[in-house]
Amino acid sequence: MASAPREHFSSRAGFVLAAVGSAVGLGNMWRFSYLTAENGGAAFVMLYLAITLAVGLPVLLAELVIGRGAQKSPIRALAHFGGPAWRPLGLVFVAAGFLILSYYGVIAGWTVRYAGIALWSGFDSGIADRFGEIATGWDAFGFQAVFMLFTIWIVAGGVKRGIERSAVILMPALFVIVCGLALYASTLDGASAGYSYYFETDFSRLSEPAVIKDAAGQAFFSLSLGMGAMLTYASYLDRTHNLPDESLVIAGADVGIAFIAGLVVFPMIFALGLSEKVGASTVGALFITLPQAFAEMGTVGRLVGFLFFAALIVGALTSAISLLEVVVATAVDGLGWSRGRAAWIMGGVIAALGAPSAWSTDFLGLVDSIANNLFLLGGGFALSIFVGWVMKDPVAEVRSGTEGVRWFFAWRALLRFVAPAALAFVLWFSIPATWDALVSTVEAWTAPVEASPETPQLEG
Ligand code: TRP
Repeated sequence: MASAPREHFSSRAGFVLAAVGSAVGLGNMWRFSYLTAENGGAAFVMLYLAITLAVGLPVLLAELVIGRGAQKSPIRALAHFGGPAWRPLGLVFVAAGFLILSYYGVIAGWTVRYAGIALWSGFDSGIADRFGEIATGWDAFGFQAVFMLFTIWIVAGGVKRGIERSAVILMPALFVIVCGLALYASTLDGASAGYSYYFETDFSRLSEPAVIKDAAGQAFFSLSLGMGAMLTYASYLDRTHNLPDESLVIAGADVGIAFIAGLVVFPMIFALGLSEKVGASTVGALFITLPQAFAEMGTVGRLVGFLFFAALIVGALTSAISLLEVVVATAVDGLGWSRGRAAWIMGGVIAALGAPSAWSTDFLGLVDSIANNLFLLGGGFALSIFVGWVMKDPVAEVRSGTEGVRWFFAWRALLRFVAPAALAFVLWFSIPATWDALVSTVEAWTAPVEASPETPQLEG
């Protein structure tokens, strides 16, 4: 197919901000804080950091190397280095993009709604009870649609004018807001109870398979790994980029913002005495407890609440852009569609696929669980095998653009042995756990009695 030369990011900072934009999202604020609360505080954070370093970082570099080397979207990039037998893995990646964005957009829609409430009326004390009404049905679907429109519009704008430009504007703003909120949270009376909860370590839980599974799933979800999103972004790079350095910056920013988000969430919740509600529901920490905290802060709460949800919208938007880009790049490269057509059609289909998640938070939780525990971890396993064992000379590929870096052999060894072993171990627990979640959700749907009125749970 005769086509225009591949569009590239215009600068190193542009690419890094776009990749950080992909990584930093609902995962850093919503998922990270509730998983930390559920899984033993600082011990969980340390496990998540260890997995990010030993498995996440090598797989991130692997995705960047494949993408930049092939200059193609995932299906073609895998075939480029591994032959046609690897095309199905690329298809699985694209399927994961559909799956994740379909419910991610729904959660992002909630954040749009909450930011709107902060702006127009402020939060009142009844806000926690209205979560169910806000989070489901036509309301949820409508706000998801609004969010998806923005996502589609930016992706349709192209790599430089859409993806890069939005990240360059939005990511610094997000960083400033989150740091400002963390500072404000530190001034609240009673914040220290939140810090002790956050930093309190329960090492005994580190041996629990469920904790390990959550830490690994979070490491992959948060860094946008395992479905070719980073691979796709890297396909818009030239060979002057120093990929090892850039992957360190991306992972550092992702982990750093998750950590700072914890410094916002925990002090606020504890300062306002809402701690008994944390852990009561996985969705709770963010969408039930925090708005209640904002309500209790009075007028300031309106501003703080608006800034908090605005930061979440920004994070969610730059992440959703990368999810849609995987699908759009595939349609452009593989089907020969124009970018605009691919963005509007594929984005529209994904928005429609979000309907079940918009009507049932149980369904949303189930899809989240399947996407993370099966697709992303399985994808990461396959990617480490691919670059560790199948691809010819990935070290030569990564070397271009670097000078004096010497730890490539460590990287290769991590991909060959450590990452596959660690991921196989985690998958061994997470496959049956995900199956059980599926079975119990389906049973709950087919049970004759009405479901109990408890807050729906999101399974990580
Ligand atoms: N990393 C994003 C977050 O933390 C979510 C995300 C964007 C993602 N692109 C992805 C997750 C690709 C997995 C794969 O919110």
